[in-house]
Amino acid sequence: MKILVIGSGGREHALVWALAQSPQRPKVFCAPGNAGTAQLGVNVEISPMDFGALVEWVRNEEIDLTIVGPEQPLVAGVVDFFRSQGLPIVGPSAYSAQLEGSKGFAKRFMAQYHIPTATYRTFSSMEYEEAKNWLAAQDCPIVLKADGLAAGKGVLICHNQVEAQAGLRTILLEGVFGQAGAKVVIESFMTGEEASVFVLTDGRDYVVLPAAQDHKRIGEGDTGPNTGGMGAYAPAPVMTPEVLVRVQNEIIIPTLNGMVEEGSPYTGILYVGIMLTPQGPKVVEYNCRFGDPETQVVLPLIKSDVVELFMRIATGRLLGYPLGLHEGAAATVVMAAPGYPDTYTKGLEIKGLGNLADTDRAVVFHAGTSLSKEGKMLTSGGRVLAVTGIGPTLQEALDMAYQRVEILHFEGAYFRRDIGWRGLKHDKEP
Ligand code: GLY
Repeated sequence: MKILVIGSGGREHALVWALAQSPQRPKVFCAPGNAGTAQLGVNVEISPMDFGALVEWVRNEEIDLTIVGPEQPLVAGVVDFFRSQGLPIVGPSAYSAQLEGSKGFAKRFMAQYHIPTATYRTFSSMEYEEAKNWLAAQDCPIVLKADGLAAGKGVLICHNQVEAQAGLRTILLEGVFGQAGAKVVIESFMTGEEASVFVLTDGRDYVVLPAAQDHKRIGEGDTGPNTGGMGAYAPAPVMTPEVLVRVQNEIIIPTLNGMVEEGSPYTGILYVGIMLTPQGPKVVEYNCRFGDPETQVVLPLIKSDVVELFMRIATGRLLGYPLGLHEGAAATVVMAAPGYPDTYTKGLEIKGLGNLADTDRAVVFHAGTSLSKEGKMLTSGGRVLAVTGIGPTLQEALDMAYQRVEILHFEGAYFRRDIGWRGLKHDKEP
């Protein structure tokens, strides 16, 4: 069995790691991968956006299954391209991936299929004057979202009209987000706690992984600029069994049925960002892929053979699949390069990894690492490592992760010391 994972971050290392745990002992490849994926499998120097080269390589190597990590190739149609060549792949079609690729598409979809979300209006750059006048009559806080993919930076939460009007100009007139900002979605601000739900589906049947919560802000107490995510944990105690039933009935099932109605059944991983508002769960956003760093906590909680799970997703055989999960919790702490999320330093030597073999209680996932010619492990990205702990409780999982973080070192390494604080609060005051 040969499997290719497309991507190069901590999420992809977690995918390669989970596949490598399978009793089927697959040979795992990663394109292009990082220094962590190279330790478990074989890195292949092909860009995730070079579909022709990927397909040619997959054919030559007789790869049995491809799994796509990041959103860009999905939105650009990698799944359609592989399927047109008869190659099994895990991910949604380009049409379905618009749930992430276009905020306007996602809002229209939710309105049409009665899926709870914030009220909204969409405007194009041609409609700037109308947008400005409409926005001036709205209450703040209010949320402005660039329509297209903007590497997690296209969402502005505006606390007053000055910020809102400046945000509108930034997106529609100044074109800061390029083509992604040719349209803007303006949404009412939702209050509540956010959680991430990961649905794995073959287009008809689905399984749900333990809900996760991530920490998007750089600073402790969830303050400061947004990042790709500074840590995560699962299961999220806020997602009680009762809330999850509502999420399934009011959000997941209508979403999957809606995509069937649209003529493009959703396949692969559907990541639903949910706000638990006083009125009930509502969709903040859809993503067409696994979260990063959420993958680093949800995959270690899967007891089942993930090779079989992903094969069933790719081949439409999820019906009746009994997903097995481990008891307990997982938590991950991201170690970032100095300066992140702004300009950051690269090429710093990472020390301490040699002392830390992965165990069933702790795994160090590489996010932005590379090996020098001399064999030194160096930082090569903003988020460098995601250190995951696993334990019977969230507190024990966090303790395990932080024990390992203390052993790892690179100059100016930054990490938050309060990962999991919301989950711990729920555990103490249910
Ligand atoms: N952790 C947020 C994301 O993957 O989009």
